[in-house]
Amino acid sequence: MKTIIEPFKIKMVEPIKMTTPEHRRDILRKAGYNLFLIHSEEVLIDLLTDSGTAAMSAEQWAGMMRGDEAYACSQSFYRFFDTVHDIFGFKHVIPTHQGRAAERILFSIMCKKGDLVPNNTHFDTTRANIEFCGAKAVDLPISEALQPGTYHPFKGNMDTQALNHLIKRVGPEHIPLAMITVTNNSEGGQPVSMANIREVEEILRPTRIPLYLDACRFAENAYFIKLREEGYANKSVKEIAQKMFSYAQGCTMSAKKDGLANIGGFLCTNDDKLAEQERNLLILTEGFPTYGGMAGRDLEAISVGLKEVLHEDYLEYRIASVKYLGEKIAREGVPIVQPPGGHAVYIDARAMLPQIPPLKYPGQALAAELYLEGGIRSVEIGSVMFAQKDPKTGREVPAPMELVRLAIPRRVYTQSHMDYVVETILQVHQRRQMIRGMKIIYEAPFLRHFTARFEPEE
Ligand SMILES: Cc1ncc(COP(=O)(O)O)c(C=O)c1O
Repeated sequence: MKTIIEPFKIKMVEPIKMTTPEHRRDILRKAGYNLFLIHSEEVLIDLLTDSGTAAMSAEQWAGMMRGDEAYACSQSFYRFFDTVHDIFGFKHVIPTHQGRAAERILFSIMCKKGDLVPNNTHFDTTRANIEFCGAKAVDLPISEALQPGTYHPFKGNMDTQALNHLIKRVGPEHIPLAMITVTNNSEGGQPVSMANIREVEEILRPTRIPLYLDACRFAENAYFIKLREEGYANKSVKEIAQKMFSYAQGCTMSAKKDGLANIGGFLCTNDDKLAEQERNLLILTEGFPTYGGMAGRDLEAISVGLKEVLHEDYLEYRIASVKYLGEKIAREGVPIVQPPGGHAVYIDARAMLPQIPPLKYPGQALAAELYLEGGIRSVEIGSVMFAQKDPKTGREVPAPMELVRLAIPRRVYTQSHMDYVVETILQVHQRRQMIRGMKIIYEAPFLRHFTARFEPEE
């Protein structure tokens, strides 16, 4: 069959409140043009994030009812542990309330001032947690990752030559760990090949720098390997995932993505000593080691979710629906990061709005227009999120790309919702020359994109 259907039936619905452009104009102004600050009931199609927004299955809800809420050593923890251990293969599994809690624990134990942590591309919370410890987060994407229109089957790969140079330049003693983010969210949700993971591990092995995977979207990455990398077509997605993890000494995981859960995460390691330190810190800031920051019912939802996310009919539909949106808008001339990634379509706002300079935030301006036009909530991934301050001049240096991410929640929207999104984007695209830039009128010292307030340029 040519038509790939949503491989689920809908048993419970959540109404969408219809709003008009006039109403949305007022809401935008009140929210300081920051879509994070808009109440969700005022959003028609919420593509802000794929994180924690999945619809859970009947089996997951059944698991929630089974949740064992014992403070210590609950049955739910052991079911969770068995599932994670089976797929990820690591010796120690430390539950946390979400991915960034795993990051904070990992980096505050492993990193100190002056250290460097390379990654294909750090996600914003990863970068912030590393830099909060006084270490430096270094991005080593391949050059194709910075060319939105260029096709590469594994655009999320790490530049291994650059990794070699970095290790030689600063010395392995200043690199407490290296990471690979699968899929590479900040560079367009692009996958990393097995060959690249293997090569990175081979570079690191003699230096004894441990490799960690930022595993949020491990199943989507594994499915891309199955589709695109030679030698994996006949392997199951679970086998591919297990192989990916076999090259690493640990991982951080936000179960809000490929855990198909609304909250949760974990930290894994094979290192006994490190695990002990991590558990001690966990007790201080998250909770007892068998629940971390989660309730027993959350552990159950994740155990079921991690199994369901590996179903190939689910992954086929998932990747096809993201591709459907990407290809439909690209065909009409909207510049996007090619090929569409695993969890999101990224519009290249710099190419679409060349009249707006990077530090007038074309991505933010485009995201505001998409909301105004159709009530769609997206997110800027560009200079609002990633601009750096030049240490000498104190001036802002723009991010390498100005993207707007349309992240697709898992199992939430249907094809007609996607058709509505396409129509909205094409309408904004038609009047793109009229769109003006933005200026920031308030910003916080860290992760400013969450709370910044903007005004349109005159
Ligand atoms: C690649 C990546 N790493 C880490 C995180 C942080 O996870 P959490 O939001 O659960 O703290 C995210 C969240 O979006 C992510 O996409």
